[in-house]
Amino acid sequence: SKGAALVAAVAQRLASLRRKVEETLALFKINQDQLQLVKGRMRERLEEGLKSKSTSTIKMLPSFVYLTPDGTERGKYLALDLGGTNFRAMLVRFKKQRYRLYHKIYTIPLEFMQGTGEELFDHLAQCICDFLDYMGLKKARLPAGFTFSFPCEQAAIDTGTLVTWTKGFKATDCEGHDVVNMLQEAIKRRNEFDLDIVALINDAVGTMMSCAYEDPQCEIGMIAGTGTNLCYMEELKNIEKIDQRNVPTKRDEETHEAEEDKQNAGANKKKTEVNSVVSKMCINTEWGGLGDDGCLDDIITSFDVEVDKNSINQGKQRFEKLTSGMYLGEIVRRVLLDLTRRGLLFKGHVTETLKTPGIFETKYLSQIESDRLALLQVRSILQQLGLLSTCHDSIIVKAVCGAVSRRAAQLCGAGLAAVVDKIRENRKLDHLSITVGIDGALYKLHPRFSQVLKETVRDLAPQCDVTFLPSEEGSGKGAALIAAVARRKQEM
Ligand code: GLC
Repeated sequence: SKGAALVAAVAQRLASLRRKVEETLALFKINQDQLQLVKGRMRERLEEGLKSKSTSTIKMLPSFVYLTPDGTERGKYLALDLGGTNFRAMLVRFKKQRYRLYHKIYTIPLEFMQGTGEELFDHLAQCICDFLDYMGLKKARLPAGFTFSFPCEQAAIDTGTLVTWTKGFKATDCEGHDVVNMLQEAIKRRNEFDLDIVALINDAVGTMMSCAYEDPQCEIGMIAGTGTNLCYMEELKNIEKIDQRNVPTKRDEETHEAEEDKQNAGANKKKTEVNSVVSKMCINTEWGGLGDDGCLDDIITSFDVEVDKNSINQGKQRFEKLTSGMYLGEIVRRVLLDLTRRGLLFKGHVTETLKTPGIFETKYLSQIESDRLALLQVRSILQQLGLLSTCHDSIIVKAVCGAVSRRAAQLCGAGLAAVVDKIRENRKLDHLSITVGIDGALYKLHPRFSQVLKETVRDLAPQCDVTFLPSEEGSGKGAALIAAVARRKQEM
């Protein structure tokens, strides 16, 4: 009959539409073999990056953090954190293996992120001033740890030259300059308070330190947030690019330990295990740069190419652009735009919203993918974004988000597998058990990212048993801990 023919025709058309959508989504699928390749490429560049004259796209920056904390840290510290769209000022107080943290968050307006360096650092000084006022600490001259979540070339724990901005930052006259110095100069210009910046810290390093405080097996720090990064404890002897003569000796540490032991007799059982030898240094890999030499071109889609082209650091941080919060939503938006243009979504109706870069923040991605959410709620989120969807549309949107975030988690898993296997081989072990301190909204808030990450590492590094420990206040507690360790050294 006519009716049946019509139904058949509609079904056929739907099947054909779905097939086209599937074809696009297939571009984001990576199989085990490809993941193995990514793991191998990561491994090669990690090794290369440790050499003295390295040409690796992975910077492998020495952090001058040799030790994980041992629980004997005491006192009050200021922790400052710049890395995303916010600046946080914190006061951290350690007391008997416990800590308290007070903080205030300041937004960084885009005009400062992308204005002049002086304006940016003057703004930070103003925020710190406000915080000290608020805490009644303007006269205190506290030791401070500065968490600065960008690649810095360090020659000591308390200095560092910004190699290049990443994520959304572009302030002028900062690259190639010592950022600790820039902050100190801004504080001087203000002439209202004084600060002793004793440590410059990458957020991944802070994360590792904050988790190592709880778990001595934590020797990796990872960020899956606005950006992506990883740091880990590397054998000093493998780090060709640092001058091994300046490394503290085991003896220095032990003398100090013995002294502290007397003071807090038996206060901490983890100590001996963690601090027994100074043979490692934490390396900030800056793994987001994988692929800047084209080594990921075989998995990069035309959507990724567009996202890169429209970013403020074209050609840079290719791995980061496939895996982190700042970019995932934008990849999704471009896929949706393409599907709509091809008449496969939103009835082919291309709206201004859909054409607006940046509308899809990671938090929407997390919400849309949540299993607890009924399709109706997905539709209401889309509606908030100004996208009118049918039920069928919302299924497609959800599938696009899923494909993009799954690929991100798998790629991070492949990278992490390379690192844990390297650590295992460093130590000549058949089996390694290790903890990864981890932070970032993608890991903490996305409903599936963490699961896929874990599965991928398990599949690609079967000889390693990897535990993930979400960090609690990585940039605050971690920075303060490093400041504590750094100050200990100054006093010695
Ligand atoms: C970017 C930065 C890196 C930071 C990461 C996470 O990749 O270059 O230093 O750790 O974002 O915030």
